[in-house]
Amino acid sequence: MPQVTVTEHLLLHQKESPMASGRFTRLLNELILAAKIISREVRKAGLVDVLGFTGEINVQGEQVQKLDEYANKVLIHRMERSGVLCAIASEENADLVRIPDQFPKGDYFLIFDPLDGSSNIDANVNVGTIFSIYRTKGECGGDKLCDLLQRGSEQVAAGYFLYGTSTMMVYTTGRGVNGFTLDPSVGEFLLSHPDIKIPETGRVYSVNEAYWNFWDEPTKEIVRYFKGSDNLRGQPYAGRYIGSLVADFHRNLLYGGVFLYPADHRDPKKPKGKLRLLCEASPLSFVCEQAGGMGSDGARDILSIEPEELHQRVPLFIGSKNDVAKVVEIYAKAR
Ligand code: AHG
Ligand code: MN
Ligand code: MN
Ligand code: MN
Repeated sequence: MPQVTVTEHLLLHQKESPMASGRFTRLLNELILAAKIISREVRKAGLVDVLGFTGEINVQGEQVQKLDEYANKVLIHRMERSGVLCAIASEENADLVRIPDQFPKGDYFLIFDPLDGSSNIDANVNVGTIFSIYRTKGECGGDKLCDLLQRGSEQVAAGYFLYGTSTMMVYTTGRGVNGFTLDPSVGEFLLSHPDIKIPETGRVYSVNEAYWNFWDEPTKEIVRYFKGSDNLRGQPYAGRYIGSLVADFHRNLLYGGVFLYPADHRDPKKPKGKLRLLCEASPLSFVCEQAGGMGSDGARDILSIEPEELHQRVPLFIGSKNDVAKVVEIYAKAR
């Protein structure tokens, strides 16, 4: 396969798209540089002091891993200088990260989960970076939260980097989904998975069954459906759960399957489950829908949800459209 870089692919295949502008290409290239730097540290983890915890607790109430903090700092440092952003939001920062006055600003918003799957870092399991890009609505001064809080369907681009056996970038600008693999010998992400489509019915279900006793009855019925034989496959779906959303999602995107993180009654402070709408559910649902799949909170399309706050959590059912449709059907029947 000829070596097609991200920029070349964007300019070649999206020349009529507003996303082929120099400003968006610049944004993407800065994001790619940040991901290469993070990938380098992830690969050295264990040899450099990036394992373990910083000792802080983040806005999510989670213990911050050194690599969470490292990835967050690299992304903010690179992206605040890109000249194309009006503000940045991160899973690790309670509030919007303002662009310092000495740097030129633009009208894109970038939201990211700098390192997804942090609990797996010290065990050398795949982790990733998830990103989401909007244009400012410009109604509140252009760089305020109310300019950013938009439905997922308003995203201009979204995707993820996966630091796994190889380092991959998978993203969409609303014209399909393409996957690129980092060739470390040249330091470029090269097209390796053109025009990704997720199988309409999967063969994998991904859920943390440790929470069984905290689920409501319809949720238990849904998990029993995938574990049973009275389903679209006529046999149990394979159970796979890595504990890194981006890795579980990527496998299901390629093989077909459904990832489930239902609401549960473990923590009264998190009645909607653990995953975040803006930096996890929305970007992955944009990718999934562009690949022919679905992302739902069990009742609504994730991309239709009007966010009310920056770190809003949401139940997430995402993957093959027939499997997610079954989840929605079982919840609807119970209402
Ligand atoms: P993050 O590391 O960005 O905080 O996200 C962790 C998320 C997600 O990656 C994964 O699917 C989920 O947490 C696992 O949660 P449980 O340990 O509750 O299954
Ligand atoms: Mn976290
Ligand atoms: Mn995450
Ligand atoms: Mn994270």
